[in-house]
Amino acid sequence: MADEFEPKILGILCNWCTYAGADLAGTSRIQYPPNVRVVRVMCTGRIDPAFILEAFSLGADAVLVSGCHIGDCHYIAGNFKARRRIALTRKVLEEFGIDGKRLKMTFVSASEGALWAEVVKNMVNDIKKLGPTPVQKRVKAGAAHAAAGAADADLAELQKIGAGKKVEAAPVQKS
Ligand code: FES
Repeated sequence: MADEFEPKILGILCNWCTYAGADLAGTSRIQYPPNVRVVRVMCTGRIDPAFILEAFSLGADAVLVSGCHIGDCHYIAGNFKARRRIALTRKVLEEFGIDGKRLKMTFVSASEGALWAEVVKNMVNDIKKLGPTPVQKRVKAGAAHAAAGAADADLAELQKIGAGKKVEAAPVQKS
């Protein structure tokens, strides 16, 4: 039997709410899939879209951002700003041919360990349906193309953005 696809999901969690909620899920021994690798930030407002693009360029199948509920952010409006940035970043991903469902933002408080487990289960199921990231396929194809002297321009741009490098804007066509 072929191995079932196990998505690699990067979880970027706020210290005060979701990270503590995930910790509570662990100490309460709530079972959930181990597919999320967690990075803790002080607030979701700290999350630069470049972190997300870099995760995809390095092979993440999905990124899950989670923080305090709207109105509960310890830095007042960090999660509100993050929610807008995530919506915009999703559009950028779609421009690169990456399904927007691969980037999700949720709100889980420190007392919601069971909710965190549900969020992870649902995300893992959704990403299993989507399959592995298309970026890795393109990295492999890109390596073959590069060997043949061609390049995947979109992929190169995504990697540049992920590495924090400036990308030239596409020329605007004049009518
Ligand atoms: S402190 Fe949790 S999202 Fe801002």
